[in-house]
Amino acid sequence: MARNAARAADGIDEARLWQRLMAMARFGARADGGVDRQALSAEDVAARRQLIAWAEARGFACAVDPIGNLFVRRAGREPDLAPVLTGSHLDSQPTGGKFDGVYGVLAGFEVLEALEDLGLSTRRSVEAVAWTNEEGSRFQPGAMGSAAFAGRMDLAALRVGADRAGVRLGDALDATLAATPTAARRALGFPVAAYVESHIEQGPLLEADGKVIGAVTGIQGSRWFAVEVTGEAAHAGTTPLKIRKDALKAATAMVSALESLMADPSDVVRFTVGRFEVAPNSPNTVPDRVFFTIDFRHPDAAVLQRLGDQVEATCRAAARGCAVRVTQTFDAPPVDFAPAIVGLVSAAAARLGLPHRDIFSGAFHDAKFLAEVAPTGMVFVPCARGISHNPAESATASDLAAGARVLAEVVAELAAQ
Ligand code: GLV
Ligand code: MN
Ligand code: MN
Repeated sequence: MARNAARAADGIDEARLWQRLMAMARFGARADGGVDRQALSAEDVAARRQLIAWAEARGFACAVDPIGNLFVRRAGREPDLAPVLTGSHLDSQPTGGKFDGVYGVLAGFEVLEALEDLGLSTRRSVEAVAWTNEEGSRFQPGAMGSAAFAGRMDLAALRVGADRAGVRLGDALDATLAATPTAARRALGFPVAAYVESHIEQGPLLEADGKVIGAVTGIQGSRWFAVEVTGEAAHAGTTPLKIRKDALKAATAMVSALESLMADPSDVVRFTVGRFEVAPNSPNTVPDRVFFTIDFRHPDAAVLQRLGDQVEATCRAAARGCAVRVTQTFDAPPVDFAPAIVGLVSAAAARLGLPHRDIFSGAFHDAKFLAEVAPTGMVFVPCARGISHNPAESATASDLAAGARVLAEVVAELAAQ
């Protein structure tokens, strides 16, 4: 290992990292202690501006690309070489916590600061990145910034998508970019030497196992679908049931048929209907329109394919005379991370005396798409009872700093190569 890499962890400042996390949690703070900072919102803009202010105060250059991915750069000795990237996302779920995403961005930024404080130069530049719209709660799908960066989603198609209020992503993006005028503009996609993302686990395994570090071996596959059911509005008091085209009853029949399709006694399949909208939503009118979403995940590509390919037919078979349109909005197969980077994470944890284990991610992350363009890995730290996408999400300052120390060593080692 490079001499600098072994020292990089010494520069991680637990109190500084924690203070930054708490400062960021003010942008979109919820009364219950959680965070609602959805992509390209005013709160997301405020968080981006804060990161840029911290970066500029340290003399690091900032740049944004056309999908709004924000890069903070500490130049290496050979600045023309492809950089090592580390980061995650600043956006949150509507019922988000203080750590999902923002931890990876600030741990990456902490690595830049650690290197700077210690006066350690690196051969390659190191960049901390905040990818745009990883959550996919306001604009679908998720992981948009990293997928566009990797060439897996088309920017022009993404720009015409709209949120529930009808705001176009392109307009929200332009406003966000205009609000960060000091960041230089950069083209979408460039060569990356390696990518390492740190994140809270969002599941219960590390805590249950008494481990502080998870060396992430890969991410399960995900497919998202949007289902639009169209029936016929009718009077609730007069219209015989036999002649109704009730979009709500059809949609609930579809959800229950999908539950049967996805039934899995081994509890590996993940199937979620997280959004369900009924129109006109009036007590005495038979609903004529329902919109719902499906989030389906599995570690095995063949199962993801087989069950996912039956979603549309399953909905049609339960349509009860209504029209149904099923659109796949996200299709991300399982990925395995680069064994060399998984090995570097384990080795760094061992050297630092941190209990660690290999772990496979049920959540998706920007690393899923970066893995298509560069050797990629992730560092997980525990979160209390695995709770996430919930205001109660919680992690300790010491575990978060431990993850940042591992990240610092791995990033410094990769930046020496
Ligand atoms: C990321 O937020 C996911 O849904 O896995
Ligand atoms: Mn996340
Ligand atoms: Mn999330």
